[in-house]
Amino acid sequence: HANGAKAGKSRNIIEKMEESGKNCVVFYGSQTGTAEDYASRLAKEGSSRFGLKTMVADLEDYDYENLDTFPEDKVAMFVLATYGEGEPTDNAVEFYEFIHGDDVAFSEGGGADDKPLGNLKYVAFGLGNNTYEHYNSMVRNVNASLEKLGAQRVGEAGEGDDGAGTMEEDFLAWKEPMWAALVKAMDLEEREAVYEPVFDVVERPEMDAEEDEVYLGEPNKNHLNASQKGPYNAHNPYIAPIAESKEVFNTNDRNCLHMEIDVSGSGITYTTGDHIAVWPTNAGKEVDRFLTVLGLADKRHMVISVKGLDPTAKVPFPSPTTYDAVVRYHMEICAPVSRQFVSTLAAFSPNETIKAEMVKMGSDKDYFHEKVANNNLNIAQLLETLSERAPWPSIPFSAFIEGLHKIQPRYYSISSSSAVQKDKISITAVVESLAKPGAPHIVKGVTTNYLLALKQKQHGAPEPDPHGLNYALTGPRNKYDGIHVPVHVRHSNFKLPSDPSKPIIMVGPGTGVAPFRGFVQERAAHARAGEKVGKTVLFFGCRRKSEDFLYEHEWDQYKKDLGDNFVLHVAFSRDGPKKVYVQHKMKENAAEINELLQQKAYFYVCGDAANMAREVNTLLAQIIAEQRGLPESKAEEIVRSMRSANQYQEDVWS
Ligand code: FAD
Ligand code: 2AM
Repeated sequence: HANGAKAGKSRNIIEKMEESGKNCVVFYGSQTGTAEDYASRLAKEGSSRFGLKTMVADLEDYDYENLDTFPEDKVAMFVLATYGEGEPTDNAVEFYEFIHGDDVAFSEGGGADDKPLGNLKYVAFGLGNNTYEHYNSMVRNVNASLEKLGAQRVGEAGEGDDGAGTMEEDFLAWKEPMWAALVKAMDLEEREAVYEPVFDVVERPEMDAEEDEVYLGEPNKNHLNASQKGPYNAHNPYIAPIAESKEVFNTNDRNCLHMEIDVSGSGITYTTGDHIAVWPTNAGKEVDRFLTVLGLADKRHMVISVKGLDPTAKVPFPSPTTYDAVVRYHMEICAPVSRQFVSTLAAFSPNETIKAEMVKMGSDKDYFHEKVANNNLNIAQLLETLSERAPWPSIPFSAFIEGLHKIQPRYYSISSSSAVQKDKISITAVVESLAKPGAPHIVKGVTTNYLLALKQKQHGAPEPDPHGLNYALTGPRNKYDGIHVPVHVRHSNFKLPSDPSKPIIMVGPGTGVAPFRGFVQERAAHARAGEKVGKTVLFFGCRRKSEDFLYEHEWDQYKKDLGDNFVLHVAFSRDGPKKVYVQHKMKENAAEINELLQQKAYFYVCGDAANMAREVNTLLAQIIAEQRGLPESKAEEIVRSMRSANQYQEDVWS
C-alpha cells in the first residue's frame, strides 16, 4: 500500500474500533471535501443524538480484507462521491477495486461462503451530479457489491445531486429515515443533542509564532523547514514558482489569466490533457471578517495547539499554528453555508431572539433559502448580519474546524503540451464575479482572485489587490524567492490518440478551450518534426471577437505548422443579432464531422458540464442520424459506443 496510513498506524479498521471503543465507523470517499464533511457530520450526529461511539475514516487509510469479520453489533457508514466519468475519488480507488472486483478475497476465506459480509450492517449515501452520464455510480456500485456479498443495509441508500444544486437538502432528507432505521436495527435511544467539541484548542501564549516551530500556512514539516520534498500529490503540494503570468483578456466583469507554472527540478511530470490542482489562500478581507465576528481579531497571531479529544479524530491541518493561519489557509470560509451547521451554531447565539431565528433557519428549508442561500452569504457574513456585527465569542473554535470544509485545491485543465514544455505547466483561468440577481453580496472566487493577485504582484503592482480582497502574498507560502503558488498534478484520461495521424475533433467554448491549446500545440510540434498529423478540427466559442477570443494569434501560428490540417471554427455569441454557439458551427459542418468520425476521429468536449456538454452530445447523435440516414435511437447508440471505446472523451466541470 504505497499511499497507506502514516508509518506505525494500523490499517486494521476492526482493531482500531475495538481499541478505541467505537461501534460506528463513517468511511468517506471524497474529492472536493463535501463527502468528508458529510461523514464528520454523520459521526457527530450519531454520537450527540444517538449515543453511538463514532469515528470518521478516510477510505485510503484502511484495508478491507477483514470486513468479513466486522462485528454484528457495529455499523459502517459509507459516504461516497462519484468523480468525473463515474470514477471513484482518488482516496477510494483501492477500496472500490477491492469490493467491486470479480473475486473479493477476504482474509477469513469468506470467499467460499456466498454471504461473507453477512455480519456487516451498513448505511450508504452517494454524492453525484446528474449532468454527468454515470450519475452516482460509485454509491450504486458499492451498494450492489455489498448486497451481493450479503451485507445488510440499514435504510435506503441515499443519493445527492450537485447538478440540481440540491446536495445538502438531499443529504438532510436522506438521513432522518436512515437514523430511524438505525435506531431500530441497533436498538439505540435518541436523546437531546448536546454539542461536544471534537478538538481541543489550547492557546499557547508562552510560544512565539515567529521564533518557535509554528505552522503559519506551511502544508507540512518539510515546508516548515523550507526544504520541500517530493513526491508531490494531494497531501503534499509543490510550492512552484510562477514563471510567467498575463491577462489574456480583461473586461468589466471578467479577466482571463494565462500562467506558466515552473515545475522543473520538482520531479512533477504531466501529460497533455492532465489537470493541475491549485491550493488557494483565502482573501484577507474575508479572514478579517471571520476573525472579527468570532472576537478573535486581537489574538489572531496567538499560537494554538489543536488535537483531537478522541484518538480517532484527525486534525485537518498541522499544529501548533495560529488562528490566522488556520482561517487563511485551511478553512473554506467563503463557501455557501450549510443549513445543518446553522442549527448547530444556534446553541451559541448571543441572545434568544437570534437563537430563535437560527433554529428557524435550520429547520425551515424555504426560510433558509430566502434568508441565507439566496443572498450568497458565507458563514461570517451570516453571523455578522444576525448579530448586527456584535462578536460571537461563545462559539468554540472547534465547531468551525468540524463544521466548515477543509480548504480544497481547485483543478485547472492544463493548457500546454508536455511534449513541447514538460517543465512548464500552463493554466488558463477565468476570474469572474458572480451574483444572483438581487443578492447583496457578490461572490468572488477564492482561487481565481488569488491567482489574479499573484499576477498583479509579479507585474510589480504597488498594491496587488483585486477588488480590495487583500490577499496575503508574502509569508509562509512565499518564503521561497519569487512569486509562488502551491500545486500538484492530477492525471486524467483525457488524452490525444497515441498516433498523431488520427483525426481529432475538439469542442471547447470559453475556458473549455484550455486543454485544446495543449492538444493543438502538441500536434503542431509533431508537424514541425516532420511527422504525419491528421485533421485537427477545433470548435471554439466566445462572446465577441474583440473581447474574449482566447489565444487568437497563437492559432495563426499553429496554422502555419499544420496547414490545412488545422481547422478552427469560432462561434461569437454576442457579436451579431442572434446567439451563435459552437453547436451552430457544428451543424454547419455536419458533413465534415461525420466524415471524420467515419475515419475514426477522436471526439473531445471540454468546459461547461451543465448545458453545453449535454447539448453537444445530443447534437452529435442528430448529426450522425441525419448524415447517415439512421434513426436517432441508432445514432444515440453509436455515440454511446464511441464513449465506451474512448473515442468520445469529456473534460467537463460545473
Ligand atoms: P470558488 O470560490 O470555489 O467559487 C466557485 C463558485 O461557487 C462561485 O462562482 C459561486 O457560484 C459558488 N459560491 C462560492 N461561494 C459562494 C457563496 N458564499 N454563496 C453562493 N455561492 C457561492 N476553470 C478555469 O477557469 N479553467 C480551467 O481550465 C478549468 N478546468 C477545470 C477542470 C476540472 C476537472 C474542474 C473540476 C474544474 C475546472 N475549472 C476550470 C474550474 C475551477 O476548478 C474552479 O472551480 C474555478 O476557477 C472557480 O474557483 P474559485 O476558487 O475562484 O471559486
Ligand atoms: P453567451 O454567454 O453569450 O450566452 C463561452 O462562455 C461561450 O459559450 C460564450 O460565448 C457563451 O455565450 C457560450 N455559451 C453559453 N451557453 C452555451 C451553451 N449551452 N452551449 C454552447 N455555448 C454556450
